[in-house]
Amino acid sequence: MCGIVGYIGSRPAAPILIKGLHQLEYRGYDSAGIAVGGPDHPQLQVFKAKGKVDNLEANVHRALPLPDTPLTTGIGHTRWATHGEPSETNAHPHLSMSGDLALVHNGIIENYQLLKEQLTEFGYTFKSQTDTEVLVQLIDYFYQKNGRQLTKAVHQALDKAIGAYAIVVMEKDDCRHLVAARKASPLVIGIGKDYSEFFIGSDATPLVEYTHKVIYLDDEQVADIRIGQEVQITNLDESSADVTIKDVDLDISALSKGGYPHFMLKEICEQPHCMENSMRGRVICREDGLYEIKLSALNHFKAKLIRARHVIIVACGTSWHAGLIGKQLIEEMCRIRVEVEYASEFRYRNPVIEKDDVVIAISQSGETADTLAAIQLAKEQGALVFGIVNGVGSSIARATDTGIYIHVGPEIGVASTKAFTGQVTVLTMLSLALAHALGTLSDEAFQQTCHELAAIPRKMETVLQQNDRIEQLSGRFTYARNFLYLGRGYNYPVALEGALKLKEISYIHAEGYPAAEMKHGPIALVDKEMPIVCLTAHDQLYRKVISNMQEVQSRNGRIFAVVTEGDDEVRRIAEEVIEIPDTMPCLLPLLSVIPMQLLAYHVAVKKGLDVDMPRNLAKSVTVE
Ligand code: F6R
Repeated sequence: MCGIVGYIGSRPAAPILIKGLHQLEYRGYDSAGIAVGGPDHPQLQVFKAKGKVDNLEANVHRALPLPDTPLTTGIGHTRWATHGEPSETNAHPHLSMSGDLALVHNGIIENYQLLKEQLTEFGYTFKSQTDTEVLVQLIDYFYQKNGRQLTKAVHQALDKAIGAYAIVVMEKDDCRHLVAARKASPLVIGIGKDYSEFFIGSDATPLVEYTHKVIYLDDEQVADIRIGQEVQITNLDESSADVTIKDVDLDISALSKGGYPHFMLKEICEQPHCMENSMRGRVICREDGLYEIKLSALNHFKAKLIRARHVIIVACGTSWHAGLIGKQLIEEMCRIRVEVEYASEFRYRNPVIEKDDVVIAISQSGETADTLAAIQLAKEQGALVFGIVNGVGSSIARATDTGIYIHVGPEIGVASTKAFTGQVTVLTMLSLALAHALGTLSDEAFQQTCHELAAIPRKMETVLQQNDRIEQLSGRFTYARNFLYLGRGYNYPVALEGALKLKEISYIHAEGYPAAEMKHGPIALVDKEMPIVCLTAHDQLYRKVISNMQEVQSRNGRIFAVVTEGDDEVRRIAEEVIEIPDTMPCLLPLLSVIPMQLLAYHVAVKKGLDVDMPRNLAKSVTVE
């Protein structure tokens, strides 16, 4: 979703801002803009463009004599429309009516209409339909009133604003100074050598090239950033706050496509390696050949986790699908009751959370607004909140009591792939560790599962070798307007995930169903046009799924099946089969999801679509 960059220092700001915006493109956006200024420069200059950052870059190149520009301060933004259509007028940065201030903003100011009416009474006029323009005028109102003290004006304005925000404000009069603030939307400040320059980002991606020293602004904090000085941080109530400088550890090679045509394909193919990273130091094969699971997150909270009588998993989208697999893993191995909730529903119900309940929040980005709100609610009600997160240092990682990083590296493709397998890997390790401590799994089953888990990355490689075949057969399905995905048991969430992947990037409508549910309705859709993806690997429900497939076959549906190596029976029913290596049922999703990801990818590529940045989608959904 929207991205923010900012810079003050002695270099020309515009190239740094544009590069940073390119690096944030993966978050999803529909327009972009920058504002730049410099000491002795009479006006803030604003450039905007609808569509891609490339369009903005072209506008800036036409107007600014780079690289000699003295404009060494600036803010930039990629906007994902919430209030008002995607257009140049609605794109950020927004200037105040006086032209003294420019602002970029992620989030939503919920009471903007009321504020707008009040500002209109004071003579302010508005060019855009956005809540952000209202906020910059409100800051301007206090700025003009209080002797042009920007930080104070930001405090006063935020005191009146209701909603979520990450903002950066610059002022025409003092281009050695920026003010940033956040509430429920992340912001990171990178510190250059001896405080001679600062880099700001809505995540660390655009900063790591320049510095590894960062400050993660906490919720409800305002940062006063001035060249040559330490950053001053105050809370919204104007009391001063501690400043903690951290080292950010982000592998910059993960931010390039590394020879692949798309980030999504790169990330699909990285999964064996990512899974190894996720298990490193956690799934340990001792010298005697026996396995142990070591999870540092369990050190302090093991007793509480073991005592849990009820686990609630909260997440959204793909992470919610991983949660459905987590439910089966925890219930099967630990015999603890588990519910899986959409974070967006959970947060607005009055959920029953009892003493000794544990809430597990799953999120790739660690910034999803609904999941964060669900965590807040769970904490207020006294639950222990455990995070399964990819974004290191992200808001969810910091809001949870404890947790496990999935360690799969930055995921840039908007459609989540390696994060899903990373989440399922962590859920498997967690279930195994808890089951071992609870004594709900025999030693033999524990050892067998750990052994098989450790073997999955090699088996994933075998599945990936079928990429070319999946590419070839995907061409046969681009005509389709609807797909059905069927699976049972551990493969039911994989059916949901396969359907979601196809919808997101190929814009073909797809539904995932528990295979046996099909005859209670969706079977009416089946005809010779309808591709049906059946997840039919060997598990205890294999025979049952075959019966469901026969129901489809007798109505002429076109079956594409994922089967266990050597399966001849399904081959007789299906039009196409893709084989995956044999494994234990509880580990099946880690293999069977890969053909789902590849199928969606190749169908979308064959349709000529923008796989990494599908329309209307954002990588990190920081508004509810
Ligand atoms: C699907 C996808 C989304 C996310 C969802 C949650 O490919 O990426 O459905 O899974 O927006 O995001 P996180 O995991 O960042 O909380």
